[in-house]
Amino acid sequence: MTIAELQQAVLEKKKETDTCILAHSYQAREIIEIADVVGDSFALAKNALDRPEQTMLMCGVRFMAEGVKLLSPEKRVVLANPDAGCPMAEQMDKGIIAQVKAAYPEYTVVAYINTTAALKTVCDVCVTSSSAVEIVRKLPNDKILFIPDCNLGDYVAKQCPEKTFKLLQGGCPIHAAVDVKAVSAATDAHPKALVLVHPECRPEVCALADYVGSTAGIMQYAKASSAREFIIGTENAIAEHLQYECPEKRFYPLTKELVCKNMKVTTLMDVYLALSTQGGEEIRLDPDTLREARVCIDKMIALG
Ligand code: 13P
Ligand code: SF4
Repeated sequence: MTIAELQQAVLEKKKETDTCILAHSYQAREIIEIADVVGDSFALAKNALDRPEQTMLMCGVRFMAEGVKLLSPEKRVVLANPDAGCPMAEQMDKGIIAQVKAAYPEYTVVAYINTTAALKTVCDVCVTSSSAVEIVRKLPNDKILFIPDCNLGDYVAKQCPEKTFKLLQGGCPIHAAVDVKAVSAATDAHPKALVLVHPECRPEVCALADYVGSTAGIMQYAKASSAREFIIGTENAIAEHLQYECPEKRFYPLTKELVCKNMKVTTLMDVYLALSTQGGEEIRLDPDTLREARVCIDKMIALG
């Protein structure tokens, strides 16, 4: 079976089963092409709210599927490949954060959306990489405990110098592996290119960038810019999609290693099998988790 034939079979099954396919922008091109909604983790959860379909099929990682379930608990939410987890989301557990909160009761706990639903139950407000600075600025409390990504936390802290931050040692192993040497190698190879990086990269890498922003932010910036060459410091799928969408410009991955295996574990065949109820995993959250984790997501929507 060719990719085009499998895509056709997916589209037919999708219609037959009244399913909406949500694809994170890090997914492979053949999945992006058959998706109803493509975007960053927040855009996926928010757009799922307005979809008429009763089943949401997530092509992304587990915390993203949980995010959709938290916002649309009445819908059936399925993760296309049950092995797709995000190591950052699973770095900190609820018990540890509850202890840290007890030690610093005067701090507001701000959780990156890349956290499990269980962890969200003990956090005060959620943020995404695109909304973090705006939301933190709007919080009445000046003391912020930012989890789990210390690189994103450092980036937000620099934009909000009026606030005091406590950061814990967590983060994305893929983005945090990019170092200054890799930036120099990329800019030596492409001296005219602008450097665009995700704030999950280390502070010294962000400091060398022309633009720091979320997946969606990087894509918007590159499309709107009059520059013609860009070094992309986030998952390499973004450089590929941008190259496809803007053939007149040139996009270079910052390093070949910027590949999230967790995102890439989902294949078009997984999507087909999940639609045929021979694969995938339905996300089930107990009523307490649904209620308690929803609080910090609602706060994010109210402030974002
Ligand atoms: P975005 O919210 O920017 O899509 O980031 C999600 C993610 O996992 C980045 O590594
Ligand atoms: Fe998680 Fe990093 Fe992969 Fe994003 S790129 S899903 S933060 S491991």
